[in-house]
Amino acid sequence: MSTFTKIRLRIRRQAAKDAPVTWETFEIPFREKLNVISALMEIRKDPRTVDGKPTKPPAWEAACLEEVCGSCTMNVNGMIRQACTALIEDVGQPNGDVFEVTLEPMTKFPLVRDLIVDRSKMFENLKKIKGWVPIDGSYDLGMAPPQDDQIRQMRYALSRCMTCGCCQEACPQVNDKSEFVGPAAVAQALLFNLHPIGKTMENERLEYLSSEEGITGCGNAQNCVKVCPKGVPLTQAIAQINRDTTMYRLKKWVGLV
Ligand code: SF4
Ligand code: SF4
Ligand code: FES
Repeated sequence: MSTFTKIRLRIRRQAAKDAPVTWETFEIPFREKLNVISALMEIRKDPRTVDGKPTKPPAWEAACLEEVCGSCTMNVNGMIRQACTALIEDVGQPNGDVFEVTLEPMTKFPLVRDLIVDRSKMFENLKKIKGWVPIDGSYDLGMAPPQDDQIRQMRYALSRCMTCGCCQEACPQVNDKSEFVGPAAVAQALLFNLHPIGKTMENERLEYLSSEEGITGCGNAQNCVKVCPKGVPLTQAIAQINRDTTMYRLKKWVGLV
């Protein structure tokens, strides 16, 4: 039998990007296996702070509720993660019979409201690295060329990225003063460079990743790989793209590309 009776949620509130920041605390009864999104839903039923003051319901985003879409990503007790799979008994800080949870939005993206941020930059970055396979028309292309099994396995691991932004949030090199595109886009460039048809655009991707926004921005702190919920081999991808851009620049210098 659990000895916990309450969940206390401290939530960073901000009505818009430039609005003043306030903090509000809410309490709800403890229930086992409740995740952070379910706790927020409980608060929404009758949004009152711990002092009984009525307030606006906190705003957050969620869609799949099974760690697939990445839209509920936020800082939970200082750790970046998906709120939908964050069970209170796992992430809460025990204090007597209360589990305490502090919720804050991601900091590397423009704030929309409360816990919602605008992650469009992640998708803009995918455009910059040309994260697609070029197919001209819808005619029968025939059988795809056979692929090395190790490459196939690597591509599968890279393809698990859900563009959640956790790696971006954890990376010290992604900040207002740096142009670095971030680890997720670097890994996706490798995913498409390893594709037999995607490879036709490899030089364009490597040209972009040789720019100021590219691979040289990575300081190799390796925070990214530690927080990725999908186990994307980010540091392996960064090391590979580092080698590939060096080779590309060398070939370009001697006039081979
Ligand atoms: S690489 Fe991992 S942490 Fe980064 S956006 Fe993709 S799934 Fe999220
Ligand atoms: S290795 Fe470090 S600096 Fe490079 S992308 Fe990952 S967190 Fe950022
Ligand atoms: S709601 Fe989709 S990952 Fe949490």
